[in-house]
Amino acid sequence: MEKLVIEGGKPLSGTIKIHGAKNAALPILAASMMAPGTVTLVNVPDLSDIHVMLDILRALGCQAEQGTDTVRLNTSTAHSSHIPESLMSQMRSSIFLMGPLLARFGRVQVYQPGGCAIGERKIDLHLKGLQALGAEIEESGNTIVCTTNGLKGTEIVLDYPSVGATENIMMAACMAEGMTTISNAAREPEIQDLQNFLNVMGAEIIGAGTDTITIKGVTSLTPCVYRVIPDRIVAGTFMVAAAVTKGNVTLENVNPSHLTSVIHVLKRAGVQITIDGDIMNVSCLTRPRAVERIVTSPHPSFPTDLQSQIMVLLSLADGVSIVKETVFEGRFKHVDELSRMGADIRTDMNSAFIKGVHRLYGATVEATDLRAGAALVLAGLAAHGTTVVEQIHHIDRGYERIEKMLTHLGAQIHRFSPVPTE
Ligand code: EPZ
Repeated sequence: MEKLVIEGGKPLSGTIKIHGAKNAALPILAASMMAPGTVTLVNVPDLSDIHVMLDILRALGCQAEQGTDTVRLNTSTAHSSHIPESLMSQMRSSIFLMGPLLARFGRVQVYQPGGCAIGERKIDLHLKGLQALGAEIEESGNTIVCTTNGLKGTEIVLDYPSVGATENIMMAACMAEGMTTISNAAREPEIQDLQNFLNVMGAEIIGAGTDTITIKGVTSLTPCVYRVIPDRIVAGTFMVAAAVTKGNVTLENVNPSHLTSVIHVLKRAGVQITIDGDIMNVSCLTRPRAVERIVTSPHPSFPTDLQSQIMVLLSLADGVSIVKETVFEGRFKHVDELSRMGADIRTDMNSAFIKGVHRLYGATVEATDLRAGAALVLAGLAAHGTTVVEQIHHIDRGYERIEKMLTHLGAQIHRFSPVPTE
């Protein structure tokens, strides 16, 4: 399996461009199914999760080409609403296709996506929302078949502001008859991007980014050209990379309004951040300060997807910090690996108590999930000595050739690909 080998201790410096948002592109690719014809998406990142989504769209009969940062889809040839189990098991986000396929074909067959390293990842809120819109849902084993003779708008109150459930319901409601309101909706920027994309195609949605989204059903949608927002989690990851290496990094193609809570926490830790439009400079020339308490929760609070990364900074800070993870029940898998690098972290249920140390030491560590893997790379960049990060396929799901971007900033990192044995 491929590994990343990192010689730590080099302050990062220079400028990088942040690629498009994986968590905006995935639901937007799914929503493209609702408008037969040619959809062109710009600023789409070249990631393994995107590749899987394109393979699923091809399996449904679409034509899909991926260029440097552009994807061109022809969804008019789509003929199936059965998502292959083999592809579904590769990426749970394929669940985003339920709403669009139900809206277009009146039927969709999927499989329980199952849990992952960070948690159970239930989909009950997705299914309850689609049922409220008039879908019949049959589950047998891990197979789920949804059918409808026509979706009808309704009032939906989410028990929890689930990002995926909000997106799935929004997409299905686009072509339901009448009005739908989603209360207690998730407010993430990726949901606003999905609303904007759907509205460019002719949908009538307002309220994304607030906790109440209103959708007026339309009878058809028209394909379009659309640019996906920058990836706020990748941007946040590189902000932390600059801080933990005591470097000075400029990020281009960033939307600072998507990172308000992250900027606030980093400034509390003593990181210098200056913003000029979509350009952000991040530096930290002194030892970071501990941050008394960080609680992850739905946007606009501190994002769970940056919890493992910020923990690396706190591991090197002067003092004791507490991180409470309230979104996923299993999102502390990076703690053991960081401890093996010299971090002083104790966990109790969903809280981590981090006592900052002066230095981390290189070790061979294993990525367990996407963001934990990214955190281990950050720890390797800061550590004294050599760090080997294994199972890096997790990282490739969300970061375009992370070693290339870091090398560009002066890091000593390379991807080790073992020669395939006969
Ligand atoms: C999206 O996942 C993101 N993925 C995740 O990013 C992100 O961590 C998460 O939102 C929270 O911000 C994509 O957008 C592709 P949720 P999603 O539904 O939609 C529970 C990354 O690293 N829940 O908001 O799956 C669930 O178990 C990934 O890029 C239910 O109980 O997140 C979890 O505890 C990781 N029932 C919580 O809600 C449901 O029907 C948040 O899940 C749905 C969710």
